[in-house]
Amino acid sequence: MEKKALYEGKAKIMYTTDKPDELLVYYKDDATAGNGAKKGTIMEKGIMNNKITAFFFDMLAKKGIKHHYISMPSDREMLVKKLDIIPLEVVLRNVAAGSLAKRLGVEEGTKMSVPIVELYYKSDELGDPMINHYHIKALKLATQDEINQIETLGLKINDILTKYLATKNIDLIDFKLEFGRDKNGEVILGDEISPDNCRFWDSMTHEKLDKDRFRRDLGNVEDAYKEILRRLTGEVR
Ligand code: ADP
Ligand code: TMP
Repeated sequence: MEKKALYEGKAKIMYTTDKPDELLVYYKDDATAGNGAKKGTIMEKGIMNNKITAFFFDMLAKKGIKHHYISMPSDREMLVKKLDIIPLEVVLRNVAAGSLAKRLGVEEGTKMSVPIVELYYKSDELGDPMINHYHIKALKLATQDEINQIETLGLKINDILTKYLATKNIDLIDFKLEFGRDKNGEVILGDEISPDNCRFWDSMTHEKLDKDRFRRDLGNVEDAYKEILRRLTGEVR
């Protein structure tokens, strides 16, 4: 397969393939927090996030959610449909944590009475500012119809994941999704779903099993990723 790095991000490298509408995603062990202000390495994170993402995408497909994942040629690589990524970070929240807890003065761990959808403009230079429908249309990032589809899909994915994770004794606190247009212009789910972009808390102990262990220097970072992989797939690393 002819491989050329198209883009290197903070956690992944996107390579071209011999097919114009497919990309090869390489999952790195690099970890960043605070928009790149804090940098580190989480051993085998790339392998675990690749496998966890593949697991979630397979599960979502069974529930009718369309996504970019095609196959997993190796432990760190994922073949995906090339998307025209809509530059929005779509955040779903069930329980107050992180920036929401800080911004609205709600104690971390407070259950929200309904799920919350937030939209952020994906821009490292601007530090991903929160934006609304008016900004998105004014900047021509997406149409109203696309925004509606993204929000509906986000809520549906939240519902599926929350219910599934509860059976694994995991509370889905919040998470971030990215969507893009496929070659037919259809809006489908892209990027990843892993402990890097989700908050997972153990349902009983409320122990954090996600990247907050790295962001907040809580220790046992690798163990948290391993535990999520184990609870989902049974694989022990
Ligand atoms: P970042 O760009 O935030 O540093 P990553 O290191 O995860 O993030 O890089 C992956 C990049 O690939 C992101 O910019 C993401 O929007 C983009 N991306 C994800 N899925 C696809 C896809 N199917 N087609 C094209 N680009 C994608
Ligand atoms: P926040 O509380 O920092 O706004 O994060 C909400 C959720 O979104 C959390 O699960 C982490 C995820 N997230 C990302 O994946 N990337 C980001 O750039 C940000 C800010 C959050």
